[in-house]
Amino acid sequence: KRPPAALLFIFGGSGDLNHRKLSPALFNLFIDNWMPEKFGIVGIGRRPYTTEGYHTHLMDGIRQFSRRKEEQNGKWNDFSQHVSYLQMNAEVEEEYQKIAEIVKQKEAEFGEHPNVIFYMAVAPQLVPDIAQKLGSLNICHDTKCTRIVVEKPFGHDLESAKELNNLLSSLFNEEQIYRIDHYLGKETVQNILALRFANALFEPIWNRNYIDHIQITAAETVGAEGRGDYYERSGALRDMVQNHILQLMCMIAMEAPVSFEANEIRNKKVDVLNAIRRYSNDEVHAHAVRGQYSGGWMKGQQVPGYRQEKSVSPDSPIDTFAAVKFYIDNWRWQDVPFYVRTGKRMHEKSTIINIQFKPAPSYAFPSEAADTWRPNRLTISIQPEMDIRLRFQAKRPGQSMTLNPVDMIFNYKDAYDGDEPEAYETLLLDVMEGNQTLFMRSDQVEAAWKIIMPILETWESRSPVDFPNYAPDSWGPEDAEALIARDGKNWVTLPQPHKD
Ligand code: BG6
Repeated sequence: KRPPAALLFIFGGSGDLNHRKLSPALFNLFIDNWMPEKFGIVGIGRRPYTTEGYHTHLMDGIRQFSRRKEEQNGKWNDFSQHVSYLQMNAEVEEEYQKIAEIVKQKEAEFGEHPNVIFYMAVAPQLVPDIAQKLGSLNICHDTKCTRIVVEKPFGHDLESAKELNNLLSSLFNEEQIYRIDHYLGKETVQNILALRFANALFEPIWNRNYIDHIQITAAETVGAEGRGDYYERSGALRDMVQNHILQLMCMIAMEAPVSFEANEIRNKKVDVLNAIRRYSNDEVHAHAVRGQYSGGWMKGQQVPGYRQEKSVSPDSPIDTFAAVKFYIDNWRWQDVPFYVRTGKRMHEKSTIINIQFKPAPSYAFPSEAADTWRPNRLTISIQPEMDIRLRFQAKRPGQSMTLNPVDMIFNYKDAYDGDEPEAYETLLLDVMEGNQTLFMRSDQVEAAWKIIMPILETWESRSPVDFPNYAPDSWGPEDAEALIARDGKNWVTLPQPHKD
């Protein structure tokens, strides 16, 4: 069923996020008949654009980034009828009347009051001011129909996140606020809930009695590139761990929900965040590692170090890599380490979650069989590979009892047609439908900051002495290897298909 009539205002309408992600996602939803029968999209920006010029700009993004390329020509004309551009200076309060007028016009055109959605695709420091000015419009008091979508980073630290939450909640109800974490819209991430809670097989062993440890790797090959300005105020811990990685941890560690109601799922997740051990400043050193990439070579191309990137200070202390060993202090997870790592300019783009089970309690096989013996492991590949692998021991064919680890693989490409929606499609549709399940509630955001703050404070108070400390095309600094090796374990990369 399609969502009810909607009118989307995109602040940052001429910006990068809209160009690369939002417009292609809305276009795909349109092709798949998921857009409301009556809808309007209004890009808001400072730059002057004619309607035609704006359409050309968006079309260019769709051509590059939309997953439905073959159909774009036929459908684009129909889609573009719904898209317009509003040039306005978002710093001037009177200008917001233009928005009120458009809402009125569309209401008359649609013959009904649409859901009005304000998407903040702007630099984070502009959000409070825009939200405040929107708050003075009458439409924003309509708690049922008006929604505001806020991109990450949600605040710069715990204090500023609280301030932003306070401001937003003075202007909107929590039901109107959609804090996006795009990882939650990824198919493979949503599938974690299906894997865990739609099968009887995994849940009984999904705990400290059977699981040795868990690893989450979110590696990227790109560097800071054009985003030095943003990245200098962020770093890997803020950019990836505070949000995406902690959310993945919640999906893996949460208790079973009793329903799929948004607040039920969010309650279960916030319980995990509240149980994650907060390190004292003295404990940070033993549990967290930071890194920064140097210049060097990446797949045959010479690339600059982070400190040489545009808008980056030549002695920048910013982390482009972070690895942390977390603990969740509750009945299910007590003493099970969760090792997480993320970084730019790493050897490959891959986000994977490894659930490493404990060894079998007793081992009766002949000692030659032990050479290749490995404990069970479940690997969930989030991207770019999309699969789930369960490693178990098998007998190698032949007269002797020799064992081999083999993988049982579920692969999205083979099982489905490989044309799954992008995260932003899922999330934009949810906003139009009014479903907050995959969005962050204010307490989740604050709980996540509380976990990160001691690490941030410790790092910020002591300048790194060894930066840059990892080469491009590597798996990060040596200290990250040591972090896990000290516990007698090692990082797992994407498993290669087994060959004899
Ligand atoms: C964003 C970060 O939230 O996620 C980026 O700001 C990062 O720095 C990106 O590159 C990664 O997203 P994905 O979907 O490509 O893994």
